Amino acid sequence: MKRIVVLTGAGVSAESGLKTFRDADGLWHNHRIEDVATPGAWLKNMDLVLEFYNERRKNLLEAKPNAAHMALARLEEKYDVQIITQNVDDLHERGGSTRVLHLHGELRKARSTADPSLVYELESWELKRGDLCGKGYQLRPHIVWFGEPVPLITEAAELCTQADICIVIGTSLQVYPAAGLIHYVFQGAPKFLIDPKAEHVPMVENLEVIKKTAGEGVVELVGKLLREC
Ligand code: APR
Repeated sequence: MKRIVVLTGAGVSAESGLKTFRDADGLWHNHRIEDVATPGAWLKNMDLVLEFYNERRKNLLEAKPNAAHMALARLEEKYDVQIITQNVDDLHERGGSTRVLHLHGELRKARSTADPSLVYELESWELKRGDLCGKGYQLRPHIVWFGEPVPLITEAAELCTQADICIVIGTSLQVYPAAGLIHYVFQGAPKFLIDPKAEHVPMVENLEVIKKTAGEGVVELVGKLLREC
């Protein structure tokens, strides 16, 4: 089976009603990164950080996978598909994708502030001060904050080197190391970038830019790939 690596960002979940970061009315237009998404923010104002992720988790519980998530799951009928996402939502999984690597963590999980190997599924939307791990330490969002290492980046780069086809969906390609992953894909491999704006087009060979929304562009591309196979 041919291997397809799919690199996704917030844009793939936009049509599910989840905000992106850098679009108009995006998350970073309403919050300062240094106030809610850094280790310093956590030390300075834990309650504000907890509230920021609680709000996003509440929205996620009300959101549903969209046509793009479902189409990517259908791709698994005829291809070996690996999703590598910057997103912390679980819409790829809920849409039916079976191999999803979360580079920046997972919103519906929390982990111990003392022992990062202690990770817990969150049943509800709310994580509060006083919610403790099994060893009695405060739980924090299981998110990679700015300035923190990206533990799965090596595994992600390795997967990209093995890709026969690469599809990039709904990311501004502004945040490294995630934005550099496409450069690990074999030059001769067909690559597709699906984004209605596509403001930052990577300098790689064999790239087709599809200036459409994920809901339209991914469905069309998946249909084409399934017919071709
Ligand atoms: N379909 C496809 N793409 C879309 C859609 C849509 N319906 N709506 C918006 N987009 C595109 C935008 O044009 C933009 O290029 O999605 C992209 C979203 O970019 P960002 O908001 O920067 O999100 P992302 O690239 O995922 O951010 C990367 O930055 O803040 C950190 O950790 C955070 O994982 C995040 C990382």
